[in-house]
Amino acid sequence: MSHASTMAWLEAHPRTHHNNELTRADVGRVVSLTGWVHSFRDHGGRRWVDLRDRNGLTQLVFKPEVDSALHESAHELRGEWVIGITGKVLDRTESGGSPNPKLKTGEIEVEVSAMEIFNRALTPPFLIEDDIDTAEEKRLKYRYLDLRRPQLQKNFLLRSRVNGVTRSYLERNGFLELETPYMVKYTPGGARNFLVPSRLNPGNFYALAESPQLYKQLFMVSGFDRYFQIVKCFRDEDLRGDRQPEFTQIDIELSFPTEKLVRTLIEGLIKEVFKAALDVDLPVPLPVMPYDEAMGRYGSDKPDTRFGLELTDLTEVCRKHDGGGVPLFKSTLGTKGHIIKALRIPAAHAPSRTELDKLEGDAKALGAAGLGRAKVDQGGAWTQSPFAKTVSEALRQDLNAACGAVPGDVILLQFGRPKIVNTVLGGLRLMLGKKFNLVPAGKWNLLWVDDFPLFEHDPETDTYAAAHHPFTCPKPGHEDLLLTSPGEVRARAYDLVINGNEIGGGSIRISDSDVQAQVFKAMGISEEEANHKFGFLLEALKYGAPPHGGLAIGMDRLCMLLCGAESLRDVIPFPKTQHGTCLMTSAPVPAGDKQLAELFIRSTAKKE
Ligand code: AMO
Repeated sequence: MSHASTMAWLEAHPRTHHNNELTRADVGRVVSLTGWVHSFRDHGGRRWVDLRDRNGLTQLVFKPEVDSALHESAHELRGEWVIGITGKVLDRTESGGSPNPKLKTGEIEVEVSAMEIFNRALTPPFLIEDDIDTAEEKRLKYRYLDLRRPQLQKNFLLRSRVNGVTRSYLERNGFLELETPYMVKYTPGGARNFLVPSRLNPGNFYALAESPQLYKQLFMVSGFDRYFQIVKCFRDEDLRGDRQPEFTQIDIELSFPTEKLVRTLIEGLIKEVFKAALDVDLPVPLPVMPYDEAMGRYGSDKPDTRFGLELTDLTEVCRKHDGGGVPLFKSTLGTKGHIIKALRIPAAHAPSRTELDKLEGDAKALGAAGLGRAKVDQGGAWTQSPFAKTVSEALRQDLNAACGAVPGDVILLQFGRPKIVNTVLGGLRLMLGKKFNLVPAGKWNLLWVDDFPLFEHDPETDTYAAAHHPFTCPKPGHEDLLLTSPGEVRARAYDLVINGNEIGGGSIRISDSDVQAQVFKAMGISEEEANHKFGFLLEALKYGAPPHGGLAIGMDRLCMLLCGAESLRDVIPFPKTQHGTCLMTSAPVPAGDKQLAELFIRSTAKKE
């Protein structure tokens, strides 16, 4: 094991195969392999070693009768040592063994005639195997070892394939791969930015780009026609399982689009990705569901349509009966914009009282004040319900009918602001779907959600913020509502949803500087402020901007679904923890006083 002998070995024995390749058809060939010692055992005076690389395992056998010194040195080998071997391929059965049907190379073994040890290894802190019960902290600390696990290797092979298919598809469809800066102008609003101090411009900061949004629009103004980039984005958000502070988008923009053209192009891409990654043939075109329908039926703008348990809006039925004697219904009806909705649990899954109490806890965790409920009895009577005594017979019968409830079913109720009502019932629906095992394995439900509101209203400040981003075009005919009824304006925006996950989002953009200025105004951004923040865009739109639009696909989320992974961390090689730290390098770390002084920065953080 020296630099010179490694070099000599690699020159004399270039790798002939990967460790998943040899089959019975290769019996008799002399091959050269490289890899890591995965496991070893002795039997009948022979030493067996499983050699691993990113593709799989090959069984090696060291026999004293072939080379006794080599057989002896094979006893030194330990797990994770890196070796190269050369030897003859044998049929396992002919040399007295039995085939291993679980391995691609399970019918053969290689009788080693020469070996080079490239490197020894410390005993790893955990076994390099799947389904190991090791704390994630430890796996992230030794991420380079964790990444050797077959499942993670498989995930990254898949991710690499998705990258390849994406590039080839988009190039074939006339998209240019163009780069945009990461260090950009800081503009408050939108996702919180990471800041980068500028040493050359004391007191000034760049932001790390949360997405290439404005640049890709400027590419359209520049006449590039179709752009894409597989690009890192940076957002200083509170992290969850499906969010990372730096993540990757497949970012796309095109000139002269219609919503249908965007959908068709993206469906073509997703179809190729599914075929290449999973050998699944996706039926296209995908269904399109308006936002109102998604919220109405599923309580979510990213509905998981793989199972039922749909919600029912009871507001109008209750109004017809003027609250039907239930004070809570009546007061809800009396508050503008408030709604009453139900989730019906079929009799087969009807929860017990204790389970209902637990569900109430879940509802509260989702933001509910409580959980209205009624068990439907014979003849439609309600039991186990705080409304049983007060509700009128007529309203009760109408509510049962509206929900499709039959004896034995349980109805869960929520009242109030649509946002909370939908979050709570939509959230419970997902929990119950999982609990009742309603989600069929291997099912892929993809759909578009469109017709989003352009703005989100904040009732506390009575202000409007862009629901997607402020460059999204209002629907034709809605421009006049921008300043009179902003809450009613609908957007030419669309999201791509896969199995209840928002995988992509985009819109047709505003290409008229007057409309853009009006949207800023509706959001309470003054002309001066708009010019200060986005003057370059407003100006660019005046120099012949083509109609344009696009979208961005969350590459990490897409790969997470394709890999069947539970967390983005399983598809990002070097991810951050929920606290935004890297356990391997221990980033972020404090900066020294000298470095901070060069940047004209003084830290106010308390020293530990
Ligand atoms: P948006 O903000 O919806 O749109 O992002 C597009 C997609 O990126 C993914 N995503 C994330 N993935 C992991 N971690 C995160 N923190 C994270 N945030 C977002 C989601 C999401 O659907 N410029 C626009 C796109 C456009 O209009 O063309 C944009 O960035 O899957």
